[in-house]
Amino acid sequence: MAAQPDACKALDPHVLRHDFPIFQRTVHGKPLIYLDNAATTQRPQAVINAIIEYYQRYNANVHRAVHTLSHEASVAYEGAHKKAAKFVNARSWREIIFTRNATEAINLVAYAWGLHNLQPGDEVLVTIMEHHSNLVPWQMLRELKKIELKFLDVTDQGRLKLDDLPKLITRRTKLVGMIYASNVLGTINPVREIIAEAQRVGAITVVDAAQAAPHIPIDVQALGCDFLAVSGHKMLGPTGVGFLYGRRELLEAMHPFLHGGDMISTVTTESVTFNELPWKFEAGTPNIAGGIGLGAAIDYLLALGVENVYAHEQKLLAYALEKLSQIDDLEIYGPKDTHDRLAVISFNLKGVHPHDVAGILDEAGIAVRSGHHCAQPLMRRLGMENTARASFYIYNSEDDVDALVDALKTVRKLFA
Ligand code: ALA
Repeated sequence: MAAQPDACKALDPHVLRHDFPIFQRTVHGKPLIYLDNAATTQRPQAVINAIIEYYQRYNANVHRAVHTLSHEASVAYEGAHKKAAKFVNARSWREIIFTRNATEAINLVAYAWGLHNLQPGDEVLVTIMEHHSNLVPWQMLRELKKIELKFLDVTDQGRLKLDDLPKLITRRTKLVGMIYASNVLGTINPVREIIAEAQRVGAITVVDAAQAAPHIPIDVQALGCDFLAVSGHKMLGPTGVGFLYGRRELLEAMHPFLHGGDMISTVTTESVTFNELPWKFEAGTPNIAGGIGLGAAIDYLLALGVENVYAHEQKLLAYALEKLSQIDDLEIYGPKDTHDRLAVISFNLKGVHPHDVAGILDEAGIAVRSGHHCAQPLMRRLGMENTARASFYIYNSEDDVDALVDALKTVRKLFA
C-alpha cells in the first residue's frame, strides 16, 4: 500500500515536498522551484510506487481472465473508479469513465452525445474563457451538424458576464459548456448559477474541471451538472489518464464513443450489444497502470483534504499578488481579489517577451509557462498574445514566491 501524507505534514509545503522525489534534483545548479502546475503537477512517491507495484506484482489485463493477477488488476482498476467517484461525489462509480485526459472526456461527450442529439440550428453555448479542450470539439460539431456556437463574454477583469446569460440561453440551446476555473486567469466561475440557467431550458451541461479539480472540492451532485471532465496529471496523477463524470441516465442512453474490445456484451456477425457502465465507454485495454496511479493520487489528495489545499493556495495567492504588485512595469491579469481565483497568475513585464522572461527564470531554476496557454480566444479577447504564468500547488511556499519576485527584478534590470 502506498504511503500517505501524515496529518502533521499536511500542508506544510516544506515537509510535503519531501514526498516528491523530483525536488531532489537541481536545474542549472539551482534548487528546482516548480511553478508550472497549471500545465502539469509533480507526482508524489506514493503515486510512483502504485504504478511500480502494479507492474512488479500484479501486471495483467483487466476483465479478461479468471487468474489471480487479472483479478487483482481488475479490482485495483475498478477501485480507482470508486476513488474518482468519491473525489467528485458521484452517486455511483459507474458514472466515472476513465479517459486519456479532460480533452478526451469532452470529446467523448461531443461524439457520443452531440453527434447523435444535436440538429442543424441547435445552439451550443460556451464561455470565451474556455481552454481549447472545451471549444474545439464544439467547433467540430458546428462543421458536422450545422449547429450555432455562442460565447459568454468576460469583463476586462476576467470574470464571466453573467448578466448576458438570459439573452444567450434560448429555447434552441441544447448544451452549455463552461470552464470551472480558468487556466490563464485563475478565475473560479459560478458554475452552479450557469448550470441552473441552462437547466431552465433543459440544456445539457458540461463542466471542464481540469484546472479546478486539483484545487477546490468538487461535488457533481451539488453542482447538478450532466458531465464533468478531469485530467489526472494536473492533480498529482500520471499523464495519459483522466476521467469523465456523466449522469447515469444520460450515459445509459448514449451511444458508445469508441468501438471494439471490452465495451461489448455480445457480438455476432450481424449485431452487437454493449457492456454495462462504465466499460461501455472504455474500449480496448485501458491505461491500467495510469488508472491505478490516479487512484493513488486521489488517496493522497483526500488524505490532505482538498479544502486544505485550497486554503493553503489562497494564502500563497494573496502573498504572491502583494509581492508581485511591487515590481515596476509588471502587469497581472485576472481578478484582483483572491476569493474567486486560484493561485494561477498570468503576467507580463512591459517590453519583455514572456518567452524571454521564462528563459531567464529557468536559469534561476524557476519553471513557469509562457505562451497562449491553449486559450487563444480568451487571450485575443483580453488583447494579449502571450503571457508568462506562475501556477502554485501544495509543495510551493512563500520562499518560492520570494525567489520568483527576486528573479523577475533581475529580468527587469537586464531589460532596463
Ligand atoms: N492546459 C495546460 C496549461 O494550461 C496545458 O498549461
